[in-house]
Amino acid sequence: MKSDKKIAVVDFGGQYAHLIASRIRRLGAYTEILSNEEPLSVYESYAGIILSGGPSSVYETGAPQLPSGFFNTSVPVLGICYGHQLMMRALGGEVVSANTKEYGPAILEIENANSELSKSLSLKTKVWMSHGDEVVRLPNDFQVIAQSDHCRYAFVSHTSKKLYGIQFHPEVTHSEEGEILLKNFVELCGASATWSISQFLEEQIQTLQNKVPSGKNVFLLVSGGVDSSVAYLLLAKALGKDRVKGLLVDTGFMRKNEVKDLMDNLHQVGFDLTVWDESEVFYKHLQNEFEPEKKRRIVGDLFLEAQGKATTSLGLDAEHWLLGQGTIYPDTIESGGTKHSHKIKTHHNRVPQIEALIREGKIVEPIADLYKDEVRDLGRKLGLPERWIERHPFPGPGLVVRMIVSPKTNPPPIDFAVWNDKFPKAEIKILPILSVGVQGDQRSYAHCAVLSDFTSDWKELDQLSVEITNTKKEINRVVFAPGITHFEREFFYTKLSLDKEHSDILREADAIVNQILYEESIHNEIWQMPVVLVPVGLRENSYGVVLRPVESTEAMTANFYQMNRNILSQITNKLLNLPNISLVMYDLTHKPPGTIEWE
Ligand code: XMP
Repeated sequence: MKSDKKIAVVDFGGQYAHLIASRIRRLGAYTEILSNEEPLSVYESYAGIILSGGPSSVYETGAPQLPSGFFNTSVPVLGICYGHQLMMRALGGEVVSANTKEYGPAILEIENANSELSKSLSLKTKVWMSHGDEVVRLPNDFQVIAQSDHCRYAFVSHTSKKLYGIQFHPEVTHSEEGEILLKNFVELCGASATWSISQFLEEQIQTLQNKVPSGKNVFLLVSGGVDSSVAYLLLAKALGKDRVKGLLVDTGFMRKNEVKDLMDNLHQVGFDLTVWDESEVFYKHLQNEFEPEKKRRIVGDLFLEAQGKATTSLGLDAEHWLLGQGTIYPDTIESGGTKHSHKIKTHHNRVPQIEALIREGKIVEPIADLYKDEVRDLGRKLGLPERWIERHPFPGPGLVVRMIVSPKTNPPPIDFAVWNDKFPKAEIKILPILSVGVQGDQRSYAHCAVLSDFTSDWKELDQLSVEITNTKKEINRVVFAPGITHFEREFFYTKLSLDKEHSDILREADAIVNQILYEESIHNEIWQMPVVLVPVGLRENSYGVVLRPVESTEAMTANFYQMNRNILSQITNKLLNLPNISLVMYDLTHKPPGTIEWE
């Protein structure tokens, strides 16, 4: 795309590649994610390359490598964590498994302030470490720029080439001056201020006009979220309103009043929207399914079938109509777009049939190069109302991924007594269900621990949650039960199905929660807040609701949000007043190891 001063982030399978890329874009340089197996000529076309972290050890057989000659090009390279170790080893240094894993904050001490990359950094600055391997010998011609207590080669550079290696993660906000370092890198690549969303807008209009020649129109699948609304406005600006038609497939798993709100909003901006009610078909095909990936596949397939039926009935033949989708950049990568990003989930915009249509050039995705915050900026430029722009992201498959319908799964025998001394008041149980997570950069499907409400201190809850998921591999999530200081009874399992009756229960709960978020003005502090219906309650024939508010920038990583306890009590009480709800839980899991959605 566009700028001839692009930065590449080579993805070694860590969860951080997108975070690095979105940070660099915010610094004004267009950034793309690349696999580690491109021909050299591809890497050479970039103004600078960042090697991301990743879960492998460089000395393992099969660990991802780079093509030979990679470090001989004149392109500046910044290796982060795995990328740093890979560069050191490739150039003759040595990497070994460290005695202890270093995970958490560390103080970086600069000893050589003359490096272009360390410009303007404080002599002592807090950085975030997360590694089990370490560099113990530098290649020739490398020098130390900074070290930390436990890491001698925390920041190194080549004496004459623009090659830099750092063991810490500058892209996470825990690294206090990480942004300065990334900005220095962009600058030394000569890529500062080479890209902006206004420039994207101008160029994309041109691109869309070429891709959709006159005589062809676009038929856009609308989900109700910010992404497809912005995709519509952009298409309408490029092609004219008359050439863009919207189709909303009502799957029966939308939020309360969603369809009506969407119609009102889109009609306001002049959008020609058709709503196709397929809820009966979705309920019929989904009611006996529980396996997360299967649920996703069915939704993806039914979406396409519905779209096929609708296009035929509306007389939109394939010769004159291209299919439009509001796919955004992370959606194109997280499904395993680069070789080493393990498949964590199939995005509904990337089911096999859609991929085939993409190869045939029959799909238009006007914002597929953008991150969420960029989509929101673009929406503002295109005049989308602020309230719409600020909506939380909502997954394409809708409430399907927020209803845990798995059969009862017996909890594994886990001894939690190790925490008795440290957290004497905490009671810990395991829910008899599984949910999706991401552990060590791979998808997990594991149990959830539930804590009693033993403290009002979020830090303590956080600490226990992190300790449990770090040490008990059968557990990928931890929640607590607000207001319950002692579990008097066992949990009751009550079967849940993906049908109208149960999605109605969730719709009601979700609406209550969202109303309070707006009333209490905390909606904008939260990136997203799934409300999840689970088949576990404190009495027979009743269910549980999990609150999953998170803070995030791009949803690739996330922290659970620490809600004001009065607001949380208000939400809990209102939910417990619903006839079928007997248990409210609050998710204390960061991503990783949990995902945002429970699936
Ligand atoms: P996870 O659960 O993987 O979600 O942490 C990351 C972000 O992606 C959203 N999400 C989806 N969005 N189609 C979408 O449009 C999907 O199939 C899908 N699955 C997850 C999720 O809500 C979160 O913002």
